[in-house]
Amino acid sequence: MTTKTALKITKISNSRLTEVNLDDPGFGRVFSDHMLEVEYSDGYWKEAEIKPFGSIDVTPALNTLHYAQSVFEGMKAYYIDEETINLFRPEQNYERMARSCERMCIPVLDKETFMEGLTELIKLDHKWVPKKDGNTLYIRPLACAFDPVISASIAENYRFFIMTSPVGAYYNKAVRLTSSQKYVRAAKGGVGFAKASGNYAASFYPAKKAQENGFDQVLWLDAKEHKYVEEVGTMNIFFVIDGVLVTPELSGTILPGITRDSILQLADYWDMPFEERRLTIDEVMKAGREGVLDEVFGAGTAAVISPVKEVHHDGESVTFDTDSRGPIGQKLYDTLTGIQQGRIDDPFGWAHPV
Ligand code: COI
Repeated sequence: MTTKTALKITKISNSRLTEVNLDDPGFGRVFSDHMLEVEYSDGYWKEAEIKPFGSIDVTPALNTLHYAQSVFEGMKAYYIDEETINLFRPEQNYERMARSCERMCIPVLDKETFMEGLTELIKLDHKWVPKKDGNTLYIRPLACAFDPVISASIAENYRFFIMTSPVGAYYNKAVRLTSSQKYVRAAKGGVGFAKASGNYAASFYPAKKAQENGFDQVLWLDAKEHKYVEEVGTMNIFFVIDGVLVTPELSGTILPGITRDSILQLADYWDMPFEERRLTIDEVMKAGREGVLDEVFGAGTAAVISPVKEVHHDGESVTFDTDSRGPIGQKLYDTLTGIQQGRIDDPFGWAHPV
């Protein structure tokens, strides 16, 4: 951990905002005018700088490109009014990023620099936060090794960036899931709990195979027995079984999602029955057969609460004849987005206006 660095701000001369349709931005393709960059060398993080968003010049020998000593975060900024933009539990993202950095041997940037850099960046580019319901400004902090060296070892130089991108919905429809007996996302002792870049790269091939078979995402099972449900695609997974909200317990292989945690806190606040526990795919399929699998949904920052239309496992499918969220998924979605967009009371203090 380092101490707080100074923040320098270099503004763009001409905004690119006029070239962008904030009502239909897609996902992660367009970036706002500025970014935050902090350099680490000689054993400490240097002065943080907000500067025009743009390319960085790197050598193909850059160790990050080869070994993925790199972690990231996903957060969002929400339009409230001309004066106010909300963040949602940003300190949780900082804490998780610090844990990811530690696991990947990346020096942890101090919290004050992270929070100040983030809030100044959002204030400066506040006009980039879409106003259209459902659209937001996606925020992507990234920390990565920055040595021009292809030796497979802990780097000496690092960069920290925050870039922001106006986005629409991550999924436009309910998703079809298939389990995999062959591929796994994470094993005990590995980096599943960290938002490590390589976790995502490793999921692309199994996801492609699932898509070739007519599904959207892989329902990840545990690496040892291929029996316990862990996550789905790039989201945490929730089931409503006979009126009880159930999600796999965090075990070191599951990403501790901030949306996931918020859902569990809401369930507790509402006295809704919920369980965080190990659950097998067989239990899910049995519940489906017996007609007590009421709802299935994925949860994450990008996807918010994403309804599931089909769960396929071992030649058998449980399907939902709708593209909409079920009543519990919808209530959670309305409450979370209501708090994020300042429409409803926030008894938890999650909204963080900037
Ligand atoms: C997020 O939900 O923020 C994620 O990090 C998923 C990402 C791969 C878009």
